[in-house]
Amino acid sequence: MGRAGKDDLHLRQAPVSAVIEEAAEPHMHRGKFIHISEGPEEDGSRQQPTILRKPEVIHGLRNLVQNAVDFAKGNVWVETAWSASWIRIRITDDGHGYPPHIIGRIGDPFMRRRRSERERSRRPEYEGMGLGLFIAKTLLERSGAQLRFANGTDPYQKIRPDSERLGAIVEVSWPRSKIDAAAAGQTGSLGSNQPIKI
Ligand SMILES: Nc1ncnc2c1ncn2[C@@H]1O[C@H](COP(=O)(O)OP(=O)(O)O)[C@@H](O)[C@H]1O
Ligand SMILES: [Mg+2]
Repeated sequence: MGRAGKDDLHLRQAPVSAVIEEAAEPHMHRGKFIHISEGPEEDGSRQQPTILRKPEVIHGLRNLVQNAVDFAKGNVWVETAWSASWIRIRITDDGHGYPPHIIGRIGDPFMRRRRSERERSRRPEYEGMGLGLFIAKTLLERSGAQLRFANGTDPYQKIRPDSERLGAIVEVSWPRSKIDAAAAGQTGSLGSNQPIKI
């Protein structure tokens, strides 16, 4: 492959942790600690997946990290796990969690009521319009992901009682066929040469 081809490849694919760091970067220095970790599960190989560096993935994840940092008391966790068939990114914070009355409607545009005077004075820097989650969900679903929303306080989350991770949880999962650069390469979408079958 020529030099131009290699540069192009670096723009189009990256290790999943590099994509996460790129997504989180604008929110790294806002006074909350972002813990980033990754590892295989089940039958996943030890080497982390290289994924397609799609703009909708970066912007979608960035909106989710933005919310987590907006609402965290001090900490946000971005954990990536993979198996042979899927890749999952879970973003958790130590805030108060999604308001219970919106949890079934998350991702609907404008689900949010106007902020009360009390809320505005408590967090004057917060200018949310209720579109962040809608945009994140739309962009990530377009890349083939499924999203799941929960709170760390939900009894079925099975999070350790001593855990601080009691705020909002969002899980983004892809079948590897949708996002894995190697899988996409096999279908020729990166422009690789296809063998001629005789
Ligand atoms: N990490 C979170 N913790 C608690 N509540 C959240 C979190 N993320 C989103 N929310 C709730 O969902 C609402 C909508 O979020 P979003 O769609 O990003 O809109 P915006 O941030 O523009 O208000 C927020 O106003 C908040 O009530
Ligand atoms: Mg937001």
